[in-house]
Parts: sequence; structure tokens; C-alpha cells
Amino acid sequence: MDKDNMKISMAVIRRLPKYHRYLKDLLEKDIKRISSKELSKIMGLTASQIRQDLNNFGGFGQQGYGYNVEALFEEIEGILGLDKHYNTIIVGAGNLGQAIANYTNFEKAGFLPKGMFDINPKLIGLKIRDIQILDADHMEEYIKANGITIGIICTPKEQAQSVADRLVKCNIQGIWNFAPVDLNVPEHVILENVHLSESLFTLSYLLNHRDE
Ligand code: NAI
Repeated sequence: MDKDNMKISMAVIRRLPKYHRYLKDLLEKDIKRISSKELSKIMGLTASQIRQDLNNFGGFGQQGYGYNVEALFEEIEGILGLDKHYNTIIVGAGNLGQAIANYTNFEKAGFLPKGMFDINPKLIGLKIRDIQILDADHMEEYIKANGITIGIICTPKEQAQSVADRLVKCNIQGIWNFAPVDLNVPEHVILENVHLSESLFTLSYLLNHRDE
């Protein structure tokens, strides 16, 4: 199927990283094939949901055989764009920015941290692993010179929108926003938020309503 012409629902797209994760685990265990029933058991989805989801990509399952784990994994990698590399920058080199810079698995997945930016003179010039913290004043020229595709916002929420505006002006393609604020960006810029406290507060709700 031509990937560019595929129209996949957002609900399926949101599940793809989960398929990716489980298939990777299966590959690491050297499991070559799996039925939709087995996959449904480990993933906590129904077998028919799995068949429906995977039919979006041309139906990899074969009656009586199940899914070829490696082929399906590679297809999903391709659909997710994880077979490519992306140059990224982290804006805000505080606690979270440094934690993200220290986490090597994003890099292994193809998201290459090229630089970090901050306004705090105490941080500028330091290195996290081999990633230099640079003066945020130079962010625009750096983005243009280094083919940066993704900006990761780790500033306080008060600064996040102005950082996003600057990234947009430099034709950034995607923003991964950790600041607890809803950013306004033009439609052509892909914005993905990680609001950790929303997830934590959902946990809190569930803890407090577990008997209902
Ligand atoms: P932090 O205060 O340690 O780091 C923020 C950094 O952003 C500072 O170094 C500051 O100098 C820099 N900064 C401020 N304005 C800037 C600008 N215009 N350009 C570049 N850098 C700028 O804060 P922390 O804990 O790292 O949090 C960062 C963001 O992530 C906040 O919005 C916070 O609410 C959110 N967050 C953090 C979590 C965490 O685990 N640390 C968890 C959930 C959300």
C-alpha cells in the first residue's frame, strides 16, 4: 500500500507505538510469528480490534499462520517514520531538558539531539553527554544551519509560547511540548504535548474512585 495515500484514524495511530513496543519485545525473544489471539492476550486488546487495526496496512495476517512478527514490526516502523533520522534541539536545559538529553533511547530510535538552548548563563557552555548547551539567542541561526526538524520545549510554561513562535518562524516541522500549556501553532506544524501532570491526576482520580 502507498504509505503517503493512507488515511489512518488518529485512534489507530495512537495505538501504533504500542504495537511497535510489543512487536519489538517479541522480536527480542526471537518469536517469529504470532496469532491475533495471542497478540490480543498480551496487549490487552481484542483479537478483532487487532485484525481491524492491522488491516489498515494491508492485512499482514495469514489465515492459520498469524502475523510475521518481523515483517509487521518493520512495516509499523516505516509507518511511524522510525526508519529515519530526525535532528532535534531541546529548548530549556533545566531538570527535564537535561533528563531528556541524558536518555539515550530517543537517540537510538533516530531522534538525534543536536543541541540544547537556555537563557541561564550558568548553564550555557555546559555539556550533557556530548550535547552542548547554547545561548538561546543563537537558536534561530542554529536551527537553520543544522537542519533541525523537531524542537523539544522544556521551558517554564510562561516562556513556552514565545519559544514555540520562534521555532515556527524557523520552519520547524514538529514540536514536542512538555510545558503544561496549550500552545498555538499553525496547522502545518505538528504539535505533540506530553502533559505529565494530567496523567498523574488521572491516576489520582482512579485511586480515589476505585470502588465505584
Ligand atoms: P527548570 O526550571 O529546571 O528548567 C527550565 C529551564 O528553561 C531553565 O533552565 C530556564 O533557564 C530555561 N528557560 C526559561 N526561558 C527560556 C527561554 N525563553 N529559552 C530557553 N530556555 C529558557 O524546569 P523543569 O523542571 O525542567 O521543567 C521544565 C518544563 O517542563 C516546565 O514547563 C515544567 O512544568 C514541565 N515539566 C517538568 C517536569 C519535570 O519532571 N521536571 C514534569 C512535568 C512537566
